[in-house]
Amino acid sequence: MPQRTRRTTEEAGIPGAFEGETVTRRRLMTGSVHVAGAVAASAIALPVLGFAAGSPIFDRLPAMWQPVGPPRDFPDDTFVPVVIQLTPDAIGEVAKTTAFVRRRNPTVDAEPEDQWNRFVAITSRCAHVGCPVGYKDAARSFVCPCHGGVYDFRGLRTGGPPPRPLDRFFTRVRAGLVEIGPRYSVNSRLERFSPRDPGEALDGVGRYLYPPRASTARLPMGS
Ligand code: FES
Repeated sequence: MPQRTRRTTEEAGIPGAFEGETVTRRRLMTGSVHVAGAVAASAIALPVLGFAAGSPIFDRLPAMWQPVGPPRDFPDDTFVPVVIQLTPDAIGEVAKTTAFVRRRNPTVDAEPEDQWNRFVAITSRCAHVGCPVGYKDAARSFVCPCHGGVYDFRGLRTGGPPPRPLDRFFTRVRAGLVEIGPRYSVNSRLERFSPRDPGEALDGVGRYLYPPRASTARLPMGS
């Protein structure tokens, strides 16, 4: 004869049980606390996950290439300033910047030549706090008017407070025109890094202290 299972806490002999009660008060309270905890955790976690999945900060801008002139316009012993757009959809003067462009010069450019550096394009944004630098041909140097930062013909810092060399742009030649591509940063050996903000060092531990932003443009290396 099969035994009838106990259906109520009273039948189970639990002290203080009410007649007809099927769940102990302790189990009811424990379950309620777990449900409340799960709701509270979801209220925090779900918006964060939604933001992470849909946020544009995790989108990488596509590489933008802008023609600036035929190769003959750019000598190897001085820089030619060109004006370029910073982002594809930006409007107005604030969306523009100046880059200094010259042909690669093997007597001064010691880093290995590849398809992205046959023309050297250097940003006008100082690596200290971002003031616009000017190129002084007589001194073959870039000079920053704000705090006296000085950079040599390759954009390497030679004086003042900037923590790294001037940033550069990838370059290439397409359809008979030199094109300026995404910006990248360099350390004092002119090794390439994803673009950093002014004030961020790239030598020593600096490269670990200032990781690249996720939203920076896709770099063409490896493409
Ligand atoms: S912003 Fe150029 S030296 Fe400070």
